[in-house]
Amino acid sequence: MTSASRRILGFGIVGVGMIADFHARAIKDAPDCRLIGVCSRSSERTGEFARRHEVPFATTDLKMLLSRTDIDVICITTPSGAHLEPAVAAAEAGKHIVMEKPLEVTLDRIDAMLEATRKAGVVLMPIFQARTGENVLRLKSALVSGRFGRLVLASAYVKWHRSAVYYADSWHGTLKLDGGGALINQGIHGIDLLQWFAGMPSEVFSWNTRRVHTGIEGEDTAVASLRYPCGALGSIEATTAMHPGWARRIEICGENGSAVLEDDFLVRWDFRHVREEDKAILAARPDPTMRSGAGAPDQMTHVGHLRQISSLANHLLHGSALELDGPEARKAVALIQALYASAKSGRSMPVPA
Ligand SMILES: NC(=O)c1ccc[n+]([C@@H]2O[C@H](COP(=O)([O-])OP(=O)(O)OC[C@H]3O[C@@H](n4cnc5c(N)ncnc54)[C@H](O)[C@@H]3O)[C@@H](O)[C@H]2O)c1
Repeated sequence: MTSASRRILGFGIVGVGMIADFHARAIKDAPDCRLIGVCSRSSERTGEFARRHEVPFATTDLKMLLSRTDIDVICITTPSGAHLEPAVAAAEAGKHIVMEKPLEVTLDRIDAMLEATRKAGVVLMPIFQARTGENVLRLKSALVSGRFGRLVLASAYVKWHRSAVYYADSWHGTLKLDGGGALINQGIHGIDLLQWFAGMPSEVFSWNTRRVHTGIEGEDTAVASLRYPCGALGSIEATTAMHPGWARRIEICGENGSAVLEDDFLVRWDFRHVREEDKAILAARPDPTMRSGAGAPDQMTHVGHLRQISSLANHLLHGSALELDGPEARKAVALIQALYASAKSGRSMPVPA
């Protein structure tokens, strides 16, 4: 294809808060992608965002954004419980969608979103940027190849810090717009990886509490015990109440080997049968571009978003495979809803398959 006829993918962003900045930077750096327009409820903040990111079109009217024929993809970066409505409108306008995590705050709202995108025949790409990490992929591929043998324990720990100011806005920690607290907003990054690595647990038992952020509706701290269909066991711990916030940690223990991942750094990679390639992994240093928002949400970089948006562009422009779809991203919310149901009832809960 000559450069004159080269297709450029046009993007719009709905919601201009903290994570929208990451989308704007990712679109700017992704090959063949251009940010054409932004939309949010406040004309002042939308205009300021558009100026900062040199976006040609800014509006407070979603219909105006969706009516633009030069926009192919809409990134939705509104609060989690306000994802469905712009998603349905975007799908009905024939736009592909990049959706921030969690897809939505209830399974009913997620299913309505998946149905709208299916009916419209548009692509929905959920953001779970931790999945793009080099060592996350290495661990996944070692699991798929059976290198760990029978799984014994598979656990996720997301012990982060969020300030009182973070929860002082109109939506963080609310049931309607956040869907809960530390599990569904922060813990979900580890929970998604855990279910991707080890599969969905069949049964969970969970406790929730509010230790520090006592004014929020959701939990600031949660623990859970998990049982997997294969018989392996595991744990989840999630909090936003501790100081200073540690790297997200995933532990996979198997009969033939075990690994510990902190953000995208393999701090343990121990196998019964060591291979040549293991030496480089053990000698590696942490990759700062893949750090999570352990101490504050804006501590991460836009590299994971860039990889996901580039992958979507490759899919739409060149037909390459997409790594993640809506039904796969729904699983983390289904697991979290089982944890909430268990904590509320004081009983163990089956996890829907
Ligand atoms: N992938 C990640 O690591 C990551 C990190 C942070 C946030 N997020 C997700 O991104 C989304 C937005 O989070 P954020 O931190 O950018 O939030 P934010 O509060 O900084 O920004 C939210 C934006 O939505 C607008 N908004 C607020 N209430 C609204 C409503 N009721 N309806 C429509 N628009 C509304 C705000 O004006 C603002 O433009 C959430 O779903 C969150 O879970 C993902």
